[in-house]
Amino acid sequence: AAGGVLAGRRVVITAGPTREPIDPVRYITNHSSGKMGYAVAMAAALAGAEVVLVSGPVSLPAPRGVQVRGVTTAQEMLNTASAAVDEGCDIFIASAAVADYRPEQFVDQKIKKASDTMSLSLVRNPDTLATIAARDKPPFTVGFAAETTDVARYAADKMKRKKLNMIVANDVSIPGLGFSSDRNAVTVFWPGGSESIGPDSKQTIANRLMALIAEHISRTATV
Ligand code: PMT
Repeated sequence: AAGGVLAGRRVVITAGPTREPIDPVRYITNHSSGKMGYAVAMAAALAGAEVVLVSGPVSLPAPRGVQVRGVTTAQEMLNTASAAVDEGCDIFIASAAVADYRPEQFVDQKIKKASDTMSLSLVRNPDTLATIAARDKPPFTVGFAAETTDVARYAADKMKRKKLNMIVANDVSIPGLGFSSDRNAVTVFWPGGSESIGPDSKQTIANRLMALIAEHISRTATV
């Protein structure tokens, strides 16, 4: 793939869900399969980039030519992604569905049934995307937004608030698209423009997204 539009570029991508342990047998997670992020990693590798994929627990094979670094929790996702960006990164793409909260404490014995109700106290997790975008010299930074209502407005807000170069909004309320599916439909926003892609396979969407990123990074000298 050497000689593609991203030859010589280093790309770090997050994918999949995170898993936040409650006790040795239970955890909190979500329906992300990792398919979107793995397709983006494949597209970046096909475009000639050197790709590190920071992946939550999924059951997908490593895309050809991509270095996969597995993580479990949101905290590990932040640590591993930050270390990968420190090694050199031109483009950072956050497609992971990170758990926003984790149990306040991990109970190291299996929690037994007792009363009819029980409550679980949760605390906020760190935000990998916002942390990397807030660096002094951030890479070209691309976020994803999974929304069910007012997709365009929330996505544009998030792009500004998190200081992103681009955001990929998917409407996860459309049946058969988004989480877990092989297909998706997205609108990509950047300051001053947007492009809708799909409904199509996640791989086709990822290939077009990487082409858009390549076009924009050559105009935005970040490195
Ligand atoms: O994995 P699949 O089954 O293929 O599904 C793909 C997908 C729907 C999960 C994917 O396309 C997607 O939309 N990913 C982002 C989902 C999401 O949780 O978005 P969010 O609105 O919570 O987060 C916004 C952005 O911040 C995302 O880029 C997210 O990776 C990042 N984030 C969020 C919280 C956090 N603690 N750390 C982060 O880096």
